[in-house]
Amino acid sequence: MIVNMSEMLKKAFEGKYAVGQFNINNLEWTKAVLLTAEEQKSPVILGVSEGAAKYMGGVNTVAAMVRAMDKDLGITVPVALHLDHGSYQGCLDCVEAGFSSIMFDGSHFELDENIQKTTELVNLARERGLSIEAEVGSIGGEEDGVVGTGEIADPAACKQIADLGVDALAAGIGNIHGVYPDNWQGLAFDALEAISKAISGIPLVLHGGTGIPEDMIKKAISLGMAKINVNTECQLSFAAATREYIEAGKDKTGKGFDPRSLLAPGFNAIKETVKEKMILFGSVGKA
Ligand code: 13P
Repeated sequence: MIVNMSEMLKKAFEGKYAVGQFNINNLEWTKAVLLTAEEQKSPVILGVSEGAAKYMGGVNTVAAMVRAMDKDLGITVPVALHLDHGSYQGCLDCVEAGFSSIMFDGSHFELDENIQKTTELVNLARERGLSIEAEVGSIGGEEDGVVGTGEIADPAACKQIADLGVDALAAGIGNIHGVYPDNWQGLAFDALEAISKAISGIPLVLHGGTGIPEDMIKKAISLGMAKINVNTECQLSFAAATREYIEAGKDKTGKGFDPRSLLAPGFNAIKETVKEKMILFGSVGKA
């Protein structure tokens, strides 16, 4: 059931668990995440970056595929179709295409401009029944060729953006996209506490969910993180399972080259990763 993420995040925030955002890249990814959410009776957010949308043909293709697949598979759990790290124009395009949720990433603008653009998009999202996530303090690492430096967000700036009426706020606390380097300092929990206090009551979003140790995830949830984004980890699981299949020569056995066989191990590996995360985040049975 495609819905926006307002209700699911409110419930998660109050119930002290987090809803996973799993980024999708193609049909197999989408199906793996939807089926796992249904099996685990968990709410879920399908994240789509502008780069991934372009890869799949465009935002209209993505919206049509996700909505049709949700229907054909008879998915009953709440599913949000969410633009990840959207530009201003990207947000407008996704509203028109039929997404149920958008993220406007204005973290690279001066605060005044971030506030102005976020305000406009909050109004549009409200008018059209979508939920909206905003960002303060850029998240480090590389995503779609955009490299952020991993800032620690300023609590006062977080409050200014949160007060615009966003459904969720992504605030940098030393988290980065992709695999964490060996010398990573971990999440800045002092900063997280200060931000949580400043914005009281708005669900926070932890980007860069791949590779964060379990104890840090649990502590972050206890301090107000109600949405956790995972992308790279599903890609690594998919790649490892596909490599194993090919290295075992299975694509050369019988009709092992058929995409329905060739992509099956990767598909199952994504399902397993998504299930593990749902258990860790505490969202199982919360649909
Ligand atoms: P990872 O790729 O590090 O899991 O981060 C995903 C993310 O934050 C998407 O916005």
